[in-house]
Amino acid sequence: MNVLGIETSCDETAAAVVEDGRRIRSNVVASQVELHARYGGVVPELASRQHVEAIVPVVEEALARAECTWDGIGAVAVTIGPGLAGALLVGANVAKAIAYARQLPLIAVNHLEGHIYAAGLDGESEPRFPALCLIVSGGHSDVVLMEGHGRYRRLGETVDDAAGEAFDKVARLLGLGFPGGPALERLAIGAAPSLRLPRARLQRPYDFSFSGLKTKVLRLVRGEEGDVPPAPELAAAFQEAVVDALVTKAVAAARDQGAVQIILSGGVAANSALRTALAERSPVPLRVPPPALCTDNAAMIAACGWYRWQASDVAPLDVDVQPGLRIG
Ligand code: KG4
Ligand code: ZN
Repeated sequence: MNVLGIETSCDETAAAVVEDGRRIRSNVVASQVELHARYGGVVPELASRQHVEAIVPVVEEALARAECTWDGIGAVAVTIGPGLAGALLVGANVAKAIAYARQLPLIAVNHLEGHIYAAGLDGESEPRFPALCLIVSGGHSDVVLMEGHGRYRRLGETVDDAAGEAFDKVARLLGLGFPGGPALERLAIGAAPSLRLPRARLQRPYDFSFSGLKTKVLRLVRGEEGDVPPAPELAAAFQEAVVDALVTKAVAAARDQGAVQIILSGGVAANSALRTALAERSPVPLRVPPPALCTDNAAMIAACGWYRWQASDVAPLDVDVQPGLRIG
């Protein structure tokens, strides 16, 4: 059965058709990156307006590429949070209109849960539980134990910046464009590992803090700690410190909780240093989506929506968006 997924939580207008929760039939992402780049970050008002303009053509394109008519769609899944309120409303209202007009079940999906389900798309086997999930995106850095479909326990989170946000801020300090994560990763390639940045110590064992690291890079860039290191070395040292914190805590949590798998997901999971380090240090098999499915897309929302639908978790047509939604 096909689920139409819709995602508009931040700066990608996305729609996808996914069969039986795993097989991608189409996956259309209209990125707004160019629109926001000149402001150095996502401008919420512009994002909402752009979603309004793009959403109908994007949904039509998703159906066309899937070679699917409306009769071939069994349910509509949409991100209801977390994200920008105005942006979320566009996708939610389009999904409600489709569900009402076509008499289809409406499935409300948590964007963070969607990221986890990206790891099951196209050929991957079913997840095994308990699975330790490390969700690292522009807005979140969560360590979550997944005990079954739809059953989560949050073990750790960031106390300040999210990992992707830290990448973006440090990239800006280094004069790189937006979004900063991929640019910083490219700059770090081949840099001499001469610099070591401090790791944060936190009270709760699986929490993160990245703002001290960002301040340290700022001081180094300003020459407040002696000669300014070359930008590639700074990028490599920053990336190494973030990756080390993420991997150390995910591995410790997996061990402590008896997890049988680690699932790595979210935009920062596209980072190859992180993928490699976690694959090397994980005591259990690692599930991670291909890089293109780590960043925001609607295939992951359709996939998650299918599992919610199987659990009869259907939303009423007056369901509200939840900009501050958490997981676990
Ligand atoms: O999941 P996502 O697409 O959107 C949110 O839900 O936030 O994540 C976007 C974040 C951005 O902060 C971006 O800089 C980061 O993921 N990112 C990366 C890489 N690709 C995307 N960070 C580090 N290395 C990458 N290759
Ligand atoms: Zn995301």
